[in-house]
Amino acid sequence: MLLSGHERASIERAADALAAGDLVAFPTETVYGLGARADSDAAVAGIFALKGRPSDHPLIVHVAHPLDAHAFASRWPDVARRLTESLWPGPLTVIVPRSPGMAAAAAGGQDTIGLRCPSHPVATSLLVAARDRGVPGVAAPSANRFGRISPTRAAHVVDEFGGDLLVIDGGDCQVGIESAIVDCSGAHPVLLRPGQLGRERLEAVAGVALGAPDEHSPRASGTLEAHYAPRARLRLMPPAMLNTALQMLGGSALKLAVYSRSVPLPPGSPLRWRVMPVDPDRAAHELFSTLRELDAEGPDLIWVEEPPQLPAWDGVRDRLSRAAAA
Ligand code: TXA
Ligand code: MG
Repeated sequence: MLLSGHERASIERAADALAAGDLVAFPTETVYGLGARADSDAAVAGIFALKGRPSDHPLIVHVAHPLDAHAFASRWPDVARRLTESLWPGPLTVIVPRSPGMAAAAAGGQDTIGLRCPSHPVATSLLVAARDRGVPGVAAPSANRFGRISPTRAAHVVDEFGGDLLVIDGGDCQVGIESAIVDCSGAHPVLLRPGQLGRERLEAVAGVALGAPDEHSPRASGTLEAHYAPRARLRLMPPAMLNTALQMLGGSALKLAVYSRSVPLPPGSPLRWRVMPVDPDRAAHELFSTLRELDAEGPDLIWVEEPPQLPAWDGVRDRLSRAAAA
């Protein structure tokens, strides 16, 4: 059922549902989340069941206020302090050592926990109302089935899970791709996933270089190669290659969709075509809804022009290369 994020009564109703151990999908500035109270293993089990996600894949716990995050941590490393002091509330998740006994199921049994204080006003209202009902934090992965594209609109969530789920409608998510994740639990911080916040900005704020994930990094489904997948096969191509491929298509019967920045479609082409914004933040904002729209038309293939190799494009490049690897 869809609830309006602008109505106080909706927020109260959703907070009651969370307190009772039910699932609620809600908007954040990045993507919609599928939430359950983080301190209830039974409630959290509902998320894994509905998403079809393996229960050892840890979830992010969302809190109303930056200080609320500390209850879940056994230690708050300096890097986490620097990052969260400047960037919370906002599109950043930090992984820190978990306080024993806190949110074990949400953490997928790991001895660390992912924490985020979102900035979306509807998310904040919901988290505050839930906290007033004794909910210390809300575990929430992106509100999509395991391995599929994250939702950036309430309608996407309904497409994923149908009309029975409580969904708070807060309009389009402004950022459009998931939070950046920095693992601060080890000796050296590691950038597990770039978001709107890319490596450059995060390193400037953290004051240290961030490592890249390796085989010892914690398991993170958002960092699996095959993720964010549309149903059609997605192929990422440099501009020149895409241009050549399009010229060579001729009268091919291939059902093709194209998402390009600089490469124009050949004249008279019957293909479905969308233009990627030149601004990286706008491109991120539209990315998932565009992929959903292109995919909905049932193409065999989606050809996407590779974004520039610039730091501001880290997040979009990351999501597109994972979608292409699926
Ligand atoms: O923007 C976002 O982060 C959205 C909104 C709803 O907050 N959430 C989101 O959740 O993208 P999800 O579950 O789709 O992706 C979170 C990623 C997963 O890859 C998960 O494995 C990783 O964070 N993660 C969570 N806790 C972790 C932990 N303790 N150690 C390592 N990775 C963790
Ligand atoms: Mg996800």
